[in-house]
Amino acid sequence: MPKKQERDLTDVLLSSQKKYKPSKKIIKEANVKDYEKTLKQAAKDPVKFWEEAASELSWFKPWEKVFDDSKKPFFKWFTGGKCNLAYNALDRHIETKTKKRTAILWEDEIGRTRKYTYQQLYWEVNKLVNALRGIGVKKGDRVAIYMPNIPEIATAMLACAKIGAMHSVVYAGFSSKALADRINDARAKVLFTADGSFRRGKIVDLKSITDDAIKETKSIKKVIVVKNNNAKIKFNKRLDVWYHDFIKGQPVEAKCAKMDAEDPAFVLYTSGTTSKPKGVVHVHGGYPVGVLRTIKWVFDLRGDEVFWCTADPGWITGHSYIIYGPLLAGITTLMYEGVPDIPKPDRIWKVVEKYKVNVLYTAPTLIRAMMRYGAEWPAKHKMASLRILGSVGEPINPEAWKWYYRYVGKNRCPIMDTWWQTETGMNMITPLPAASLKAGSACKPFPGIIADVVDKKGKQVPVGKGGYLVIRNQWPSMIRTIFNNPKRYIKTYWGQIKGVYFAGDVAFKDKDGYFWIQGRTDDVLKIAGHRIGTAEVESAFVSHKAVVEAAVIGVPDEVKGEVIKTFVILKEGFKPTDDLKIELKKHVRKTLGPVAVIKDIAFLDKLPKTRSGKIMRRVLKAKELGQELGDTSAMVN
Ligand code: PRX
Repeated sequence: MPKKQERDLTDVLLSSQKKYKPSKKIIKEANVKDYEKTLKQAAKDPVKFWEEAASELSWFKPWEKVFDDSKKPFFKWFTGGKCNLAYNALDRHIETKTKKRTAILWEDEIGRTRKYTYQQLYWEVNKLVNALRGIGVKKGDRVAIYMPNIPEIATAMLACAKIGAMHSVVYAGFSSKALADRINDARAKVLFTADGSFRRGKIVDLKSITDDAIKETKSIKKVIVVKNNNAKIKFNKRLDVWYHDFIKGQPVEAKCAKMDAEDPAFVLYTSGTTSKPKGVVHVHGGYPVGVLRTIKWVFDLRGDEVFWCTADPGWITGHSYIIYGPLLAGITTLMYEGVPDIPKPDRIWKVVEKYKVNVLYTAPTLIRAMMRYGAEWPAKHKMASLRILGSVGEPINPEAWKWYYRYVGKNRCPIMDTWWQTETGMNMITPLPAASLKAGSACKPFPGIIADVVDKKGKQVPVGKGGYLVIRNQWPSMIRTIFNNPKRYIKTYWGQIKGVYFAGDVAFKDKDGYFWIQGRTDDVLKIAGHRIGTAEVESAFVSHKAVVEAAVIGVPDEVKGEVIKTFVILKEGFKPTDDLKIELKKHVRKTLGPVAVIKDIAFLDKLPKTRSGKIMRRVLKAKELGQELGDTSAMVN
């Protein structure tokens, strides 16, 4: 660990020890009343703990074996069991009173609203299932989804799951190239998109982005387009069909595929250190077990709440806590398509008040942005419905935590700072409402999870010392493999430190056993809580005619957490001008999409490299931030 970081860790340790104890009311109402006792009990036999959690779901056929590690690291859960993710999220509620409850509340930036009960959602999904089967979509196929946060993204995901086809949702802020790469890797047959959406008052033209992507792909046989805002779009008669025409006249009942517990349910791409994104695979059986248990316990669900997760369904947070988690639990999920500060900085608080939101689950970057506008904005709204707050995506600074606690939760709503990953599928290190909280710490591992902080050899490091965050056991909603690349799965997660799951994060534990997550160990950037690979951004720069080589680093940003600074070497004959900087920024935005926020570009003659030719990004970063350079013995220039 670099020295500077250790100094920082101690500072945090000394300054953040205040404990926020849960009120008697919170404990009395909590699903888990005795936090420490529950942790201890689950730790005695995690497999038993997860087996009990699995019994909350419906199974067509019970499992024969709870956990199978005979082919590790290709772990299996609930083998022999038959089930279906969509059946558990939707169909089973139709047999109970839940069918009358609101499943989805939707609002967008310009104020349009929609509402679906479980019954209505069920019918919508079934029509789509029938239509998809009609064009030959079957078990095992892949379907790409590139859509805004609208109810049809939920129906598309659920319909795929019901058929047993894998969905691959690609965040609609990604570019055509990023979309094409993901379609090609998964060899998706069908693509869902929309004619657009509204962002900050402007129409985002998703259809032309998908048209560009399709040119780079061969596998797509049909593009299903949701009419979301009547935008003028090009329509390819051979390939494109309107969503509403596609489902017209389809029966409202459809057969649900009986899947093996270990059958893949979806793939979701996430950035790694090399340019190729990793297709993280989750399954029908274990994934919902982890998601349902965590949503119920972490957010203390009683069964009738309005749950608002402000992420986008295109990220794992959206998969697990906008779509599947709330629906598995039979509660109401609020989907908001837009930014939180349009038309005014209190839009987010207005939405909380209007829909009487009980649980608000958001990200540090959003809290910091709202903090900048000031506490007078949440103060304008009655938010007495709020019970629990959540944070996810990156470490939450103690200052932001305290602001959130005071001005949003009014000192009465516990904050669940949940650490987890695309690969873990569910919250892994998080408090429960009955735990004592520390501002800036994700608390302890969820019951049934054994996490630790270790050195390179896997040895536990002392209290207060930084090290690698690892998980010592297995859990049902864990990644099963990387799509088409099992070797990379083994190497990335199980080949770093013997016998444990390597998360790729740096952390330390304090004397109470609380975890403090410090960030990534690799070059992966975290921009507004989203994982962006350095290699992907660098390739985007190098695809410009003026650039011969590029190195990107993340530099701290007050609101976004990190933004990108790029060091560029120009080709002969190109001049390092401000105009070129603007052009490069535009080029990268076009190549990667608006997710990649380029703050600054510097032109250099040489990049620091190792003897084997690897760019030493950490040297660039240390120089940029005025830190010590550390070990530079491997550097040649
Ligand atoms: O570095 C950690 C950070 O986000 C990474 C996972 O990113 P992704 O797969 O995109 O999933 C984000 C949402 C689950 C982790 O390796 N991270 C996530 N949550 C936290 C966090 N870092 C600190 N505290 C958190 N609560």
